Amino acid sequence: MANVYVSELRDHVGETVTVRGWLYHKRSSGKLWFLVLRDGTGLVQCVLFKGNVTAELFGQADALTQESSLIVTGKVRKDERAPGGHELDVAELAVVQIAQEYPITPKEHGTAFLMEHRHLWLRSSRQHAILKIRHEIIKACRDFFDSKGFTLVDTPIFTPAACEGTTTLFETQYFDQKAYLTQSGQLYNEATAAAFGKSYCFGPTFRAEKSKTRRHLMEFWMVEPEVCFAELPDIMQLAEDMLIFILDRVLEKRREELKVVEREVAKLERVGRPFPRISYDEALRLLQEKGSSIEWGGDFGAADETTLSETYHRPVMVHRYPTSVKAFYMQPDPIRPEVALCVDVLAPEGYGEIIGGGQRIHEESLLRQRISQHGLPEEAFRWYADLRKYGTTPHGGFGMGIERAVAWICGIEHVRETIPFPRMLYRIYP
Ligand code: 4AD
Ligand code: MG
Repeated sequence: MANVYVSELRDHVGETVTVRGWLYHKRSSGKLWFLVLRDGTGLVQCVLFKGNVTAELFGQADALTQESSLIVTGKVRKDERAPGGHELDVAELAVVQIAQEYPITPKEHGTAFLMEHRHLWLRSSRQHAILKIRHEIIKACRDFFDSKGFTLVDTPIFTPAACEGTTTLFETQYFDQKAYLTQSGQLYNEATAAAFGKSYCFGPTFRAEKSKTRRHLMEFWMVEPEVCFAELPDIMQLAEDMLIFILDRVLEKRREELKVVEREVAKLERVGRPFPRISYDEALRLLQEKGSSIEWGGDFGAADETTLSETYHRPVMVHRYPTSVKAFYMQPDPIRPEVALCVDVLAPEGYGEIIGGGQRIHEESLLRQRISQHGLPEEAFRWYADLRKYGTTPHGGFGMGIERAVAWICGIEHVRETIPFPRMLYRIYP
């Protein structure tokens, strides 16, 4: 008998097929057993009729527990009222394993309990929907850059130097040297962009963030494009185009999952171009008007970001932050060197920063000066400075944290639910 997935049942109405999965739910009404099977692609109600199967098989259903693994063969019937829209009239049932008492039940569980059982929690419909949307977002990122002629170039995870400041480095032993887990692929991407014109990397990045917030993970995934000859306005345009592309894709392909996570889709649908572009100075004024005590020169705190991102119904691009709060590689504005040609994109509805990027210093002597001002080891950055010697060009790019984007698009409070196995300040299990 042909093995099919639940998502394929619509093509097999009237045929006898085999479905393999796990028991989600069961109920009986004397002569009938209704077994709802979950196979990862959907749910199907399997109906066992006493008159159609052996007494032994019918009796077996009684012993089945939640999450027992089963192989069910039966005839596919269309039924709008059944969960998933199809039913299986069971002819044969093979039990792979009777599951032990499953810890996650339909009753409410606390977050700590669910995090401790993350390996099982992933099977729940809400977590399943979030990870389907995450997959769609990742695919959309790749499709967007691939369709624009970017080359995907993977950057290393073991690195000899810091990209985003030395306070959040994870240090590790690399034989007889010290190495750090990468904070961003950007520096290497600047080299690959000079080889390919435009390139992107997509991989795990690491930050030893000592604070416990709902937006920070120790390990997160970042997509980072880098473009030669691009200046700040080009980078902002690229970020806007990418976000619109991703949103369109998710709204087109993941309606069902957005419903499962109870996302208010109207709020995603009204996101259109152009995204507002405001300077740090303008943002500062807005925050001060709303009662923030922030002064010029300070970086925005989580509360400030929330305020700004609640002000607009679409992502807002804040550009030209004070150079002093940004990374060493940021190109200063030639007209006002105290600010950098950088941009942060803040998602609406209070989700905060999802993208950071901008233009990089392309002149060797200024770069060397910044490396030393930031107390960074010159030797480790020798190759990076080299890039400024051989055909340097203005260039720039950005990085988008996938988990932050998933949190916004799914409407989830905390990033811990946006990645299969979150690495957090006090949790590395499971
Ligand atoms: O703003 P960040 O630090 O920028 C960079 O790393 C640049 N080198 C990227 C580039 O220009 N190629 O980080 C970029 C994004 C943030 O906007 C945020 O979405 C995400 O990465 N991010 C985190 N996500 C989860 N947990 C953390 N601890 C994060 N830190 C940054
Ligand atoms: Mg940032």
